Amino acid sequence: MIQTSAPGKLMLFGDHAVVYGYPCIVAAINKRISVVIEKTEHNEITILTPGNDNHAFVQKTLSYCSDLWNIPKNIVITITSEFTGKYGFGSSSAVVVALVRALAEMVDVSISPRELFDGALRIVLDVQQGVGSGFDVAAACFGGTIVYQNKGAVIDEISLPSCCWVVGYTGVKANTVAMVQKVSELRAKEPATVDRICRLIGEDVLRARECMRVGDCKSLGEIMDSHHRYLQELGVSSDRLDTLVRAAKQGGALGAKLSGAGGGDCMIALVSEDSKISVEKAIQDAGGEVVSVSFHEQGVRRDL
Ligand code: PMV
Repeated sequence: MIQTSAPGKLMLFGDHAVVYGYPCIVAAINKRISVVIEKTEHNEITILTPGNDNHAFVQKTLSYCSDLWNIPKNIVITITSEFTGKYGFGSSSAVVVALVRALAEMVDVSISPRELFDGALRIVLDVQQGVGSGFDVAAACFGGTIVYQNKGAVIDEISLPSCCWVVGYTGVKANTVAMVQKVSELRAKEPATVDRICRLIGEDVLRARECMRVGDCKSLGEIMDSHHRYLQELGVSSDRLDTLVRAAKQGGALGAKLSGAGGGDCMIALVSEDSKISVEKAIQDAGGEVVSVSFHEQGVRRDL
């Protein structure tokens, strides 16, 4: 039996602008997708994905790996998840990364993290018809917190300061492809506006990186607030996201922003230890669901 797992992720800074070549900062989270491969007597590949709807990604990964390697036909692949796909924690990318690693182990091929990233990125972009920056694939492969840019041309590990984060789920599933297309349509109409906002987001990311390096949580919070305003200007926030972000700030957060594509999914707030409980309560009172998440998580690994 082979068992592998890969973590989900949260975008901390650089949402949307990363699609246009600017850097982003993404953190792997302590919620993982696991893949188990077992041999059977039946001469067929059986895929069991309880509570998981990443079938297109699983099929594409199997066909990609079958073109590369001699994958046995008598196997059962079981995919389980520590989080539901509804939060937008990058379950599709984590499935692809964990499955490529498991299949490589199965055929005894040693594959470097970089090779795994390149292959998994190709698979994910194929399924998503080219849409996406691939930051989620990098988080699943490398773990930790990384600065990511240009489809993996830059993947730099950084360390997070010891501030606390609170994640609030809006209750609405975001449609990442639709939100990326929305920004692309706005860019076609108003290129100067979108380019200006993306440039400002890119500058925010570099400042955030420096604040993380020196442990300046107060300035990091201010950058989150300005980031959220830029994302509002791009038209990707929503009333629910704005409500939760406002509630977090009123509850005492140092900063708060939507995380990821927008339109739904989660927001994230940076808090001091003292304000964590009041921010969580404010998010809940505003109708959000607080999702317990921590960072510093390992990338893809073999578990058994
Ligand atoms: O919705 P998520 O968490 O998958 O994040 C999407 C982030 C974007 O920058 C909008 C798109 C991308 O692929 O980078």
